[in-house]
Parts: sequence; structure tokens; C-alpha cells
Amino acid sequence: MKRPSIASRLLPWYRQFGRHDLPWRQSRNPYVLYLAEIMLQQTRVETVKPYFRRFLARFPSWQALADAPIDDVLTLWSGLGYYARARNAHSAAQMVVEKFHGEFPRELTQALELPGVGRSTAAAVLASAYGQEQAILDANARRVLFRYHELSGAARSPQNERLLWQLAEQETPSKAHDYNQAIQDLGALLCVARKARCAECPLQGPCAGPGATTSQSRTEKPTRFAYFLLARSDDDRILLERRAHKGIWGGLWALPWYEMPAGEESPELLAGFRNWAEQEYALRLQMQELQPWQRHSFTHFHLDYRVVVARMAGSAVAEARRAASLHAPEQLAQLALPSPLRRLFS
Ligand code: ADE
Repeated sequence: MKRPSIASRLLPWYRQFGRHDLPWRQSRNPYVLYLAEIMLQQTRVETVKPYFRRFLARFPSWQALADAPIDDVLTLWSGLGYYARARNAHSAAQMVVEKFHGEFPRELTQALELPGVGRSTAAAVLASAYGQEQAILDANARRVLFRYHELSGAARSPQNERLLWQLAEQETPSKAHDYNQAIQDLGALLCVARKARCAECPLQGPCAGPGATTSQSRTEKPTRFAYFLLARSDDDRILLERRAHKGIWGGLWALPWYEMPAGEESPELLAGFRNWAEQEYALRLQMQELQPWQRHSFTHFHLDYRVVVARMAGSAVAEARRAASLHAPEQLAQLALPSPLRRLFS
């Protein structure tokens, strides 16, 4: 049985049921669309909305973002996660200003030069901002195509990857902007990963249905264990350390993080932790409280951590050795903090 084109059935459905009120849907401004696409990478629409609004109000243009101190960018991004995106956006804005004369490039190959911009993100911006016939392949489009075209095997295998891009290009009509929004909405509203609402699907016809799943087989994430040191000085300032730009919470301010082997707690371990902290940060600690275990999940692992509250004798911090310094409680709101710490301090 010949499969009808997706667009012929999807576009009428989109007109009636699409999420036309998303804040970025009305815009054709490449900067605005770029920002939306970056924020939406691996992040839910409802989470993105307030960040998108605040970020645009503060950095309304490539130039404004390019000129901003990276700390201000990270602070506004704080809580949204995947902080490499913020650093990449900052660098990308500088590249747009310096190399591309202040305009998002119109060539796919040039757009791909921007740090943090992959093929699907570049295509999404080119289609929406410049009306180009560019196919996207984000997680939603991927799931719809995989099911509708009854693919099988590992979703991310090189063969399927090639096939999916081929199908994406085949199915994308010249009005790519509407189609791209529509397939994302279908993937987000009906053709969802679990409990797909097939009865309401406008595509119908042959389809592998929800059994065909593109999500990685759910192997258990590993768990890591850590103590976070919450050390207060006599004048109640808190010791924070700027994390390295590469890696978890890159560029954000966090509590000193002491990783421990497989959750084995003992008095010796606690003593080891204290020793480590006193050496690394050149302080004397008076231990006060061990808070309950909490979990924060990253993409590739769970972090089980507990906060160790302590008083510092004096307030000499080896700022030179580590990127650590003391911060008054009322300054914390201005810092780029990861969300578990924002919660902890509020
Ligand atoms: N995810 C990525 N891009 C999107 C868009 N333009 N609308 C909704 N969700 C998205």
C-alpha cells in the first residue's frame, strides 16, 4: 500500500490543533528562532518559556549577547541545564557578529560552523527564518518518521540515521516552516514516546505504531555519590567554587564536590572528606550537620549527594589555588547556580 505523504495529512491537522501560541512561533527573526532552538534542545517547552522570555528581554540581539559578560549569560541560563549551550550561544553570537556581519548565515554549511549548532538546529532556523526548504530531524520528527515508515533496529545506527535523514528530506515540502512545526507538534502531542494517541493521529494508514520506539534501550543509569560542602564563614558568607568550563555544571558556581566510592559511608570517609576540604581550600572546619541524601539526575548518571554543613574558622580561602570564594547570602541570587543549589539556598 502506497503511503500518502505526511504533509498532505499533517498540515490540515496542524492548522487546527498545532501549538500556534508558542512564543517563538510568531517570529521570523533568525536570532529569536536560533535562541528558541538552542533552548529547546533536550528541554521541555514549558520549561523553556520563562527562560526564553527573560533571555530575550536582556539580550535582544546577536550584538547584545556577543557583548555580554559570560557570567551574565550563565546567570540567566541558570537552572535550564546543559550549560555548554549557554557558552556556545555566547561564542556563536560573537561569531555571527564578527564573521557573518551580524546575520545568521544563509548557507547550511556556514550555519554548521557555529558552535553548538547541529544539522537539525541549523535547518530549523533556515526554514523558519529564511523560508528555505530544509528538513529537520529532532527527537520528535525522528520518532514520527521511524514509526510511520516502519523502520526497525537501533534508532541511532548509522544506517537508520542515513535513512531517517533521507525520509525527512523526502517528506519535507517546500513550505518547510509549517511542516517542521507540525511534525514537532505531532511528536509532542500525539505520537509521544509512551502512550501514543494513535486513534487521534491524522496520518493513519500503515504505521509501526507506538511499539516502534526510538528511545535508547533503557539501561540503568549509574549512580555516583558525593558530599557537598556547605561552609559558612564567621560573617555568614558561603564558600562557592566556580566549576571548570568543561563538564558537569560547567562555568557555574557550586559547593565543593567530594566524590566518594559507591555510597559507603563511615567515620573514616567523613574524616577523609574533612581533610580534603581543609587542604584544598586552606581552611579549618567545624562540622555541624549532615543533611539527608538527595538525588539529582543528569543525562548519563544519577548523583546521590548530601550536604555537609560546617563553620569555617576564619575566612581565609585559598582563592588562588582553586576558583573558590566567599559569597554573602544576598549575592547568591545574582550568581549562576545549578538548580539543586538554587533550591537549597532559597
Ligand atoms: N523543539 C525544537 N524546536 C521546536 C519548536 N520550534 N517548537 C516546539 N518544539 C520544538
